[in-house]
Amino acid sequence: MRKKIAAGNWKMNKTFEEGQILLSEVVNMVKDEVTNPNVQVIVCVPAPYLSSFGKMIDTPKVALGAQNCYPKASGAYTGEVSVPMLKSVGVSYIIIGHSERRQYFNESDAFLAEKVDAILAEGLTPIFCCGETLEQRNEGIHFDFVCGQLTNSLFHLSAEDLKKTVIAYEPIWAIGTGVTASNDQAQEMHKVLRDHLASKYGQEVADEISILYGGSVNGANAQELFACPDVDGGLVGGASLKSREFTNIAKSF
Ligand code: G3P
Repeated sequence: MRKKIAAGNWKMNKTFEEGQILLSEVVNMVKDEVTNPNVQVIVCVPAPYLSSFGKMIDTPKVALGAQNCYPKASGAYTGEVSVPMLKSVGVSYIIIGHSERRQYFNESDAFLAEKVDAILAEGLTPIFCCGETLEQRNEGIHFDFVCGQLTNSLFHLSAEDLKKTVIAYEPIWAIGTGVTASNDQAQEMHKVLRDHLASKYGQEVADEISILYGGSVNGANAQELFACPDVDGGLVGGASLKSREFTNIAKSF
């Protein structure tokens, strides 16, 4: 049975002290209130906090995640952070290909394929983000575009390695806007993506991949979204910065 995941992407928010308080609240609430053994909570905090915050997590119900990585293991890449470095401070999941990084830092599908390989090589789990713009959806090319992102960055993988990835579908027009995709829109795209995976790897492998939805997930809409057959959880931005709401989202399966 594929894992259900509530992943919080804090993005560039919270001071160290504010983050300590938030993480402590989330860990304690999740320990006490999330009882479904198939649910994994992940907190993807700003890189400077990873080492300290990793030591604060005293339950396997909560995993430590990073928001990015560089695909080289070491070297003259000023300002970058490698996967071995992230692994050494307890990171087990790494978000890659977030639309904000694709937009602001021109991250290509090919570059993201390198990041996927670097993460898998260290035994960590990539959370591979994909998603279309409103213009692409209005033009009716959103299915081809998002499937192309998977083809270009994941389809070089073996079936065994693909099964070690998590996919996050984040329609760009729903990120940070408060405009969530409808349940039908989310399920439709998730099914298209799972069928695309099955077209190359077969249905059994495709059915093992957790596909998360991201884009204005909150405590009010999470339960209906997560009830969709091909939605396996959420990649949560703004709502993950509120311990009560993020825990409620993690309880929505
Ligand atoms: O990575 C998750 C993020 O892009 C979604 O943000 O604030 O719409 O939940 P938000």
